[in-house]
Amino acid sequence: MRDTLTAPPARTRVPLRHLTGPHAIDRALIEQLLARAAGFEKGTESGAGPLQGRLLATVFYEPSTRTRFSFEAAMHRLGGQVLSAENATRASSAAKGESLEDAIQVISGYVDGIVLRHPEVGAAERAAHAAQVPVISAGDGPGHHPTQALLDLYTIKKELGRLDHLRVGLAGDLRHGRTVRSLALLLSRFSGNQLVLIAPPGLGMREDVLGSLGQVGQVVEETADFTGAIPRLDVLYQTRIQAERFASPQEYERYRGIYVVTAEVLGRLPEHAILMHPLPRVAEIDPVVDADPRAAYFRQARNGLWVRMAVLDWAMAR
Ligand code: CP
Repeated sequence: MRDTLTAPPARTRVPLRHLTGPHAIDRALIEQLLARAAGFEKGTESGAGPLQGRLLATVFYEPSTRTRFSFEAAMHRLGGQVLSAENATRASSAAKGESLEDAIQVISGYVDGIVLRHPEVGAAERAAHAAQVPVISAGDGPGHHPTQALLDLYTIKKELGRLDHLRVGLAGDLRHGRTVRSLALLLSRFSGNQLVLIAPPGLGMREDVLGSLGQVGQVVEETADFTGAIPRLDVLYQTRIQAERFASPQEYERYRGIYVVTAEVLGRLPEHAILMHPLPRVAEIDPVVDADPRAAYFRQARNGLWVRMAVLDWAMAR
């Protein structure tokens, strides 16, 4: 079999295109990446493998289905190849006490790009400082999940035709849910959007994100009234209560099952609106609603492929 990989290119002083959080994504970049993703989906931009000869490491210190598989599928579809540490906490030298910075510095000597998921807030930013290749965050604990937010925007645009003048309800565990934290910030890059933050007391959006939204004049409404908020939404973005982020199982139990989209609840959502969820879901969306045309979450997950092709191409193409 012919070896299609080339030697790692000599490192240059050209600034690396890291994607470590929503702060790195302005409106122009969103529009560029979403247009490129649409080209990949339509099949007009697959070209002759723009990342042929390039090697990606996916380094995951937390579990994943969608993010890791879609990044790896994206890399293969772009003509590149992948090295994967799917359980880096136990199966890499992190188990011997190696620091994230040392691991990333070493891995970046072997590959042309790194996709990193890590349980600590700020880990992707730390990795970017240690790396000699682009670092793309696949989620940093309860911090941010920038490529999920990009695929969420792609889905909203595809389903509703625009990214402005929308009333978007973000519901569930907004305190620990990194996807909604990133999505709120990226939606604030567009004009006329209204964010309805729907969370029980104790799981509301944290001050860092609220402060950033306030600085750009983003209209925000906070409520705990899940069913009351739904009838005026264009998008209901439901999220899982993040059991793994609570200090104790007892604390999680206080919130388990607090907001559930049943057929009756979905009946309150306008006909033109969509129901999204980053997945995995546990019990917060009843599977009986999956057949409703407004249930967009499996289409949303599929869109991750096109968006991550665009992100890898942007970060890694020569
Ligand atoms: N939405 C999301 O990040 O899913 P995974 O945890 O399966 O990657």
